[in-house]
Amino acid sequence: MAHAKRSYGAFLPRDHTVHPPPLTPQHRFTILRSPRQPLIRIDPSLSDTTGPVFNSHDVAPGDNNLLTNYATSGPPIGERIVLHGYVLDQQGKPVPNALVEMWQANAGGRYRHRNDPYSVAPLDPNFGGCGRVLTDRDGHYVFRTIRPGAYPVKLGGLVDWRAAHIHFSISGSGWAQRLITQMYFEGDPLIQSCLVVQGVPSESQIRGLIARQDPSAFIINDSRAYRFDIILRGRHATWFEPQTSHEQLEETQS
Ligand SMILES: [Fe+2]
Repeated sequence: MAHAKRSYGAFLPRDHTVHPPPLTPQHRFTILRSPRQPLIRIDPSLSDTTGPVFNSHDVAPGDNNLLTNYATSGPPIGERIVLHGYVLDQQGKPVPNALVEMWQANAGGRYRHRNDPYSVAPLDPNFGGCGRVLTDRDGHYVFRTIRPGAYPVKLGGLVDWRAAHIHFSISGSGWAQRLITQMYFEGDPLIQSCLVVQGVPSESQIRGLIARQDPSAFIINDSRAYRFDIILRGRHATWFEPQTSHEQLEETQS
């Protein structure tokens, strides 16, 4: 069911000091991508604060179920999970009709992408790895999926394994709320050594990127559940993803 778009007034200016630095010289791709001149603050235009607007016809039923949205001959292989949470604005209010998009590797750590160099890991013919959903009137979203596997990366001569993660893109009540980040799983021992996670200097912000196991949403004889709440702006905003993840993927050793 479509809900009316709600306005929460002006957005707080984004505090760039609480997000990863654009220039991280040890990550060579940021050298070309990061700005060389001081940023100029431009007040948001009307379209920045009121768009995009999404309605139920923009997302098909089942787009949020990765157990079925690509499958043709059976369910995908892997540990089935429920992944859910709330999208909140800078004041902690729910953001309805936010577009939540996610993508991930399969249970073996392999992306369905031609540039994924981790080719020794198998593709799952019944798993596409992408999903999307609109938040409901309470700002709540739900995905059904399988837990992604870890995959190897190489950066600056170091070989590492990425902690299991899911990529998120959220489009809230305005372009000013756009957020792209990565979510990790509580209890994953690879979090402590993952080079991308360790690019986040704040322990509290790392905690904000970790989904918590949520027994209240378990499905008996089916799935464990994890909860990941997302704050789009403000002092407690969920971090943007460190800007090295895709570059690391390109450098992955097979
Ligand atoms: Fe990834």
